[in-house]
Amino acid sequence: MISKNSSANKKRIPYGRQSIAAEDIRAVVKVLKSDWLTQGPTIRRFEEAFAKYCGAPYAVAVSNGTAGLHLAALAAGFKKGDEVLTSPMTFAATANAALYTGADVVFSDVEPHFIGLNPASIQRPVSQKTRGIINVHFGGHPSRIGSKNTLSPRKDFYLIEDSCHALGAEVRAHGTAWKKIGSCDEADMSVFSFHPVKHITTGEGGMITTRRKDLYEKILLLRSHGIEKNTGRFVDKTGKNKPWHYEMQALGFNYRITDFQCALGLSQLDRLDEMVAKRRGIAAFYQKALKNIEFLRVPEESVDSRSSYHLYPVRIDFKKLKKTREEIMKALSAQGIGTQVHYIPVILQPYYRERYHLKLSDYPECARYYDQTLSIPMFPSMTKADQQRVVRALELVLRKHA
Ligand SMILES: Cc1ncc(COP(=O)(O)O)c(C=O)c1O
Repeated sequence: MISKNSSANKKRIPYGRQSIAAEDIRAVVKVLKSDWLTQGPTIRRFEEAFAKYCGAPYAVAVSNGTAGLHLAALAAGFKKGDEVLTSPMTFAATANAALYTGADVVFSDVEPHFIGLNPASIQRPVSQKTRGIINVHFGGHPSRIGSKNTLSPRKDFYLIEDSCHALGAEVRAHGTAWKKIGSCDEADMSVFSFHPVKHITTGEGGMITTRRKDLYEKILLLRSHGIEKNTGRFVDKTGKNKPWHYEMQALGFNYRITDFQCALGLSQLDRLDEMVAKRRGIAAFYQKALKNIEFLRVPEESVDSRSSYHLYPVRIDFKKLKKTREEIMKALSAQGIGTQVHYIPVILQPYYRERYHLKLSDYPECARYYDQTLSIPMFPSMTKADQQRVVRALELVLRKHA
């Protein structure tokens, strides 16, 4: 048992944190001392290494995952009058990306085990207006809803993956080789985030992968103001004789990432497999150590998917336990254990309430999950002692009469 005093002296364990090595710092400093802080060669190197890691031909690095989702939605051509389907159990940025384009969002319930979109409940809301789906690989577990051809008969239908939780996660068709999320075998585009709690970090940052050259070129253009500098693509054919010429051909943004951020990303990418293996090792430890705690369930993994465990959300039956989530979070916090709730369903956010007036009871699996979820610490630099502390603290605070 952990006494309050002994835990008070111990370092707090957050629910997630970055892992920065000496070689990461050296890599960033090297670029800081170079000629290029932004729009330089390290961005391209990071994109190429990332594309190779995921097994996709193209990757575009951007300023954050939200910008990546926005550019993917624009490249898909979503616009006013369109509907884009997604999950209510995600970070608001997933749904916001569709709204930025003028399209509307339609929410569909999640499936009960892995908390991705439920293929069975997608059928009903997919309509003639549905221009695309943003499929969220929640917590790092691949959400398998099928290829875009099976989802809609429309030729201009796009499947975008929100893979912000799922770098390093893998899937396979039964009996075949494992493929990385982001390979875009089934989706048109896959979007990642490099926020510090994610698998690799660039401070803020993101990436879009695709197999389609046309989408790649569109995204490149939109990332930097919609400005074309490639002489071969100028609208004004006299432009190629003017050394200063550039053309703004679309209403783009400044969603660029810097070279020194990409130096950090490249250096982190070298250790990605090792860091994902650590996350999977922690998950295996938790799974064993927590399995006998009453009213607590650990996340599941399906046969042909490997989660990269961005999160480790346990489910606690607070009603049966006769304690509230607030009480449990506070008690864990007193033991030095940070926890978080991922997420408040997007439809409950005031902006979405006002816009769509949706009822959580119409999304029963999302509602059940939201009632029970609590993310416990999961990050690669957790020591065995940290992991044991988390387990002991949970055993202590979840005892019925504690
Ligand atoms: C599922 C999901 N999508 C999108 C984002 C947005 O990524 P970023 O914070 O890099 O903009 C996040 C960030 O946490 C996320 O969890």
